[in-house]
Amino acid sequence: MATGRVPAIPLSVMSEIIIENISQLVTLAGPARARAAAEMRELAIVNDGALLARDGVIVSVGSASEVGPQASPDAIRIDAHKSVVMPGFVDAHTHPVFAGWREDEYELRAAGLTYREIAAQGGGILSTVRKTRAASEDELFEMSLPRVRWLLEHGTTTVEAKSGYGLTLADELKILRVIQRLNTETPLELIPTFLGAHEIPDEYRRARDDYIRLVIDEMLPRVVSEGLARYCDVFCEPHVFTVKETRLVAARAKELGLGVRLHAEQLSLSGGARLAAEIGAASADHLEWVDGQGISALQRAGVIGILLPGAVFNLGLERYASARAMIEGGLAIALATDFNPGSSPTPSVQMILSIACTQMRMTPAEAISAATINAACSLGCGARLGSFEPGKQADVVVFDCGDYRQIPYLFGINHALVVIKSGEVGVDRRNRES
Ligand code: NIG
Ligand code: FE
Repeated sequence: MATGRVPAIPLSVMSEIIIENISQLVTLAGPARARAAAEMRELAIVNDGALLARDGVIVSVGSASEVGPQASPDAIRIDAHKSVVMPGFVDAHTHPVFAGWREDEYELRAAGLTYREIAAQGGGILSTVRKTRAASEDELFEMSLPRVRWLLEHGTTTVEAKSGYGLTLADELKILRVIQRLNTETPLELIPTFLGAHEIPDEYRRARDDYIRLVIDEMLPRVVSEGLARYCDVFCEPHVFTVKETRLVAARAKELGLGVRLHAEQLSLSGGARLAAEIGAASADHLEWVDGQGISALQRAGVIGILLPGAVFNLGLERYASARAMIEGGLAIALATDFNPGSSPTPSVQMILSIACTQMRMTPAEAISAATINAACSLGCGARLGSFEPGKQADVVVFDCGDYRQIPYLFGINHALVVIKSGEVGVDRRNRES
């Protein structure tokens, strides 16, 4: 374990930064694409390594003796005290902008109610929609700031962020603008996804086709013309949006130039994965119920499977996605938090790694590949994020442990000590009193 106290450094942009005295520099250097099968176990670790970045970009990665002499005398030096240094986590599935928490539902589930029963009683997504509609853009921004802080503090430097708690044109735009502001006004990078098809709002219960038309004819074109989203997502589930309805929304999104991500096979086997393969989605997310044919279809189509075991864990369910079958079938998979107030209220990718290793039997190395390079590739950012290679962005986390396997193994602890986004120190917890 890293020991000793290290002087704090100013939280500001630094032109040159060298991180030294690293026990394991987990580079994930390798092919410039999502890693599959045995590749997911190759972390390309440099023991006793160092990393040099200039103006937010990685310049050199390797042994201390190679990298050290390349640093200029006035470079800021960070002594990692024999700890692990890894690329910042890329959390490729979050719902971070909403009003209000749902601890009442958490208690109801403990008493035996299911997620679907609570939703049928007016709770669930629609209860968050009511509160989010009532909040102003400024209020939502303020509410989201501590969540951004949590994400950064736990070692996440990039998130995919979905709308989906507005379900009117104005409220969806409001959420997407908050995401845009968080992206420009905080060190966290947020990649926006429009999720107008997250649920049928109450006022359209008897006219679902009209809501789908609203999403297709009004919301999507406006979101695109305002440049507020890079992806479009749909909650594809028989009681929410059917495969047929999902296909309509996804086709329009593609026509308008957005990439597609789908909530697929979360609560039942309904064909969402096959649809994702058919339309060439960037990702198919959840996949707890996907079957072997669905896995092969995704693999053949090059769709990345994004597994969200935090939702299974938090909902007290037993059926986790079949990560082993996916890895053995050659499907590239990513791991994400699904951070949201209902099914998965955690910002911690570290916690997700722990659940993935114990409940889905992923190895720590597979889990780390899934939460870095593969997640970055699912967002079309694999050439810039997710590994340490010269020319890539300096998104770096120093973890307070000497072996990367301790990150999932010592669970429930936040191991992230220093978090650097694009060469800028966003979090420095080295001098905390505790
Ligand atoms: O990914 N499945 C749909 N959406 C979220 C849950 C959102 C909520 O419960 O508020 C999910 O699990
Ligand atoms: Fe989700």
